Amino acid sequence: MADMALWTPDSWRGKTARQMPTYLDAAKLASAEARLAKLPPLVFAGEARKLKKKLASVANGEAFLFQGGDCAESFAEFSANNIRDTFRMILQMAVVLTFGGGIPVVKVGRMAGQFAKPRSDNFEVRDGVKLPSYRGDIINGIDFTPEARVNDPERMVQVYNQSASTLNLLRAFVQGGYADLHRVHQWNLDFVGSSLQGERYEKLADQIGETLNFMAACNITAETSAQIRETDFYTSHEALLLPYEQALTRVDSTTGDWYDVSAHMLWIGERTRQLDGAHVEFLRGVKNPIGLKCGPTMAPDDLLRLIDILNPANEAGRLTLITRMGDEKIAIGLPPLLRAVKKAGKAVVWCSDPMHGNTHVSDSGYKTRDFSRVMTELRGFFDICRAEGMHPGGVHLEMTGQEVTECTGGMSAVTDAGLAARYETHCDPRLNGTQALELAFLIADYLKQGRKADSLSE
Ligand code: PEP
Ligand code: CO
Repeated sequence: MADMALWTPDSWRGKTARQMPTYLDAAKLASAEARLAKLPPLVFAGEARKLKKKLASVANGEAFLFQGGDCAESFAEFSANNIRDTFRMILQMAVVLTFGGGIPVVKVGRMAGQFAKPRSDNFEVRDGVKLPSYRGDIINGIDFTPEARVNDPERMVQVYNQSASTLNLLRAFVQGGYADLHRVHQWNLDFVGSSLQGERYEKLADQIGETLNFMAACNITAETSAQIRETDFYTSHEALLLPYEQALTRVDSTTGDWYDVSAHMLWIGERTRQLDGAHVEFLRGVKNPIGLKCGPTMAPDDLLRLIDILNPANEAGRLTLITRMGDEKIAIGLPPLLRAVKKAGKAVVWCSDPMHGNTHVSDSGYKTRDFSRVMTELRGFFDICRAEGMHPGGVHLEMTGQEVTECTGGMSAVTDAGLAARYETHCDPRLNGTQALELAFLIADYLKQGRKADSLSE
């Protein structure tokens, strides 16, 4: 059990850390850590507090969390166009959810820091050759060669630099006019625009345009209202590689509290959520809003213990529980967790990750996810939360703005045989732009149904 009295940015080092790479050159590791520790923060504590407040409104049932982006960012796919396309996909989906679902949406990207991957196997075998697994660009390289698979601490510095550039562009998009609601038509990606989803989106964008005209007639314009002109956007990643996270953990001069300034929100993965483990120890001490993945093996008692360790003050917005059960397990796995948390009176955000419990290897040999299974888990999440009297507070997706072929199904009808065409992910299969937009419309319908049910019961 975590020792609640003593926490320091390095107290995790006294605990067992799963999924942690070993670095052969200790001096090289120490040098990278020391340089990172001197670099400026990527995000500010005040921004993390602002996100926490917004998540508190999600916990209270007044808003919806949308968290999405790459499974793993990479050095090779780092470009302005990629960042823009993922960002505008998130804007599009958020607009569909806000306007269609009628609820404020808190936008959080799996961006600007999502580089470390937990792996089920330590080794990968191809044609009889056995090499250490790829663990994300922050740790080693994806090429199947002994050289690429060496853990290199210098990669942490490269991740910091790439994250800083990514954040710089995102901040410009957020405040520099790109996110102005008047541009809602232009956010439609070319390839999405020609699909049924694209047409549906165009119609919604027309409606928003009319609404903006009406508001302008009432003297509410981009000039008078920042809400129309710009948006709020936050970053997040799995806090897996603790030497990196520790080096970016600083005391906030305003409050005297510790914040991990590598992202606004950090989460603990399914494979590193042990009660007495290093990852739980590290995250309990920083004041950022945090997430905790909850898979089908999570026991209600363990969850309550984790909540006590991670959110002892029961502060709304501090803790988001990201359930990732799988389409067949959610009906068994989720209700006991919801009931236990409700009975204990704990304030949390309930968020569904319908991706990670639904991964399988297809007949053609690709790691994939089927749209219908993703939808089944999501539908289950909404229905079960509502049946238990809890707010279905958010979704967590792996998606991209590119027209990749990594997940099967949906109206875009990617087939197993079609997966090879553009299978580009560095780790898990992502929804492409068309699939992601289709999903957003379906979620908006669920949100709307919930609103109707609420108003009927009032
Ligand atoms: C992830 O979010 O990329 C991930 C690895 O998820 P999980 O820890 O839920 O398996
Ligand atoms: Co993933």
